[in-house]
Amino acid sequence: MALRALTGIKPTGEPHVGNWLGAIKPALALASAYETYYFIADYHALNIIYDAEALRKNTLSIAATYLAFGLDPERSVFYRQSDIPEVFELAWILACFTPKGLMNRAHSYKDAVAKNQEAGRDPDQNINMGLYSYPILMAADILIFSADVVPVGADQKQHVEIARDIAERINHNYKSALFTLPEPRIDDQVKTIVGLDGRKMSKSYDNTIPLFLEEKPLLKRINQIVTNSQTPEEPKDPEQSPVFQLHKLLLPAGEEAMLRGRYQAGGMGWGQAKKDYFEALNAVLQGPRQEYRRLMADPGALQTVLARGRDKARDRASVFLGKVRSTIGIR
Ligand code: ADP
Ligand code: TRP
Repeated sequence: MALRALTGIKPTGEPHVGNWLGAIKPALALASAYETYYFIADYHALNIIYDAEALRKNTLSIAATYLAFGLDPERSVFYRQSDIPEVFELAWILACFTPKGLMNRAHSYKDAVAKNQEAGRDPDQNINMGLYSYPILMAADILIFSADVVPVGADQKQHVEIARDIAERINHNYKSALFTLPEPRIDDQVKTIVGLDGRKMSKSYDNTIPLFLEEKPLLKRINQIVTNSQTPEEPKDPEQSPVFQLHKLLLPAGEEAMLRGRYQAGGMGWGQAKKDYFEALNAVLQGPRQEYRRLMADPGALQTVLARGRDKARDRASVFLGKVRSTIGIR
């Protein structure tokens, strides 16, 4: 039987080129070799988004994004986390086996405390219990479907290790192999995608290229990529150029070398380099953009897709939760 891969996507805002190349594309590529589960981690986003309308809209937008890039809901299980109440019951069970010290050591919590301390604030200021126990809910997301592998970015590796740790404790206590021990899968190929200013592309830096801009605003955005003051004639260093760093991600290896050569030879101005990147990007985004617009114009159809995913996912989750309950003596 195929191994099972599962990953969650937080609906926190407008998806960008970094999300696509860093997360969406590699995750969807797994569908050919694994049994795949993709879910929208809406209750994880509640940590960040306290605006009901925004949360609702982002959720549909993320669903449409994955579908527009080719997620096949017949082949994969595609659902919304909040549709699976079994996850939240399991999260409580896991919490009862999670040492508090393990949560104290979680990076995201530690970072938040460190920021408060640096600023001379109370260490717990603005830290809610959702942030503190985030890794437990994430462990429940993973363990409820007995995932073997969890494709994530490097920043999420510790969370998967925490899930594994909790699973081992429970298996050990009941002398059973109830929980499958998940492995994080971090794609070394996928480096950090740079943004308009050359830093990591991120919503928090306001340096993103949103995926579904129409052509004109897309070109406008690409024209904002930082460049130096070299004249068109001068040879350019591709490694120092965010335009090249972004453009090469769209090219097969042979064409990447050719493009590198054009930068190094001189005779190509920044305006031309950006125009070429725009054309390459627009060509791959055109189809998904149309599909995204079509899906967003029909929220009812999106809800239907998610409802079918929910039914598949809940059937499996409730059978598994039944086993957990009987193992621990709740039934
Ligand atoms: P943002 O930094 O814009 O808030 P998120 O944290 O919501 O992005 O990221 C969602 C997913 O996209 C994560 O899996 C993350 O690893 C991936 N991702 C985001 N930005 C980048 C980037 N610049 N390069 C590679 N992957 C990225
Ligand atoms: N924490 C992940 C992120 O911030 C999202 C996530 C939630 C997730 N639950 C998951 C990822 C389970 C993989 C498996 O990107």
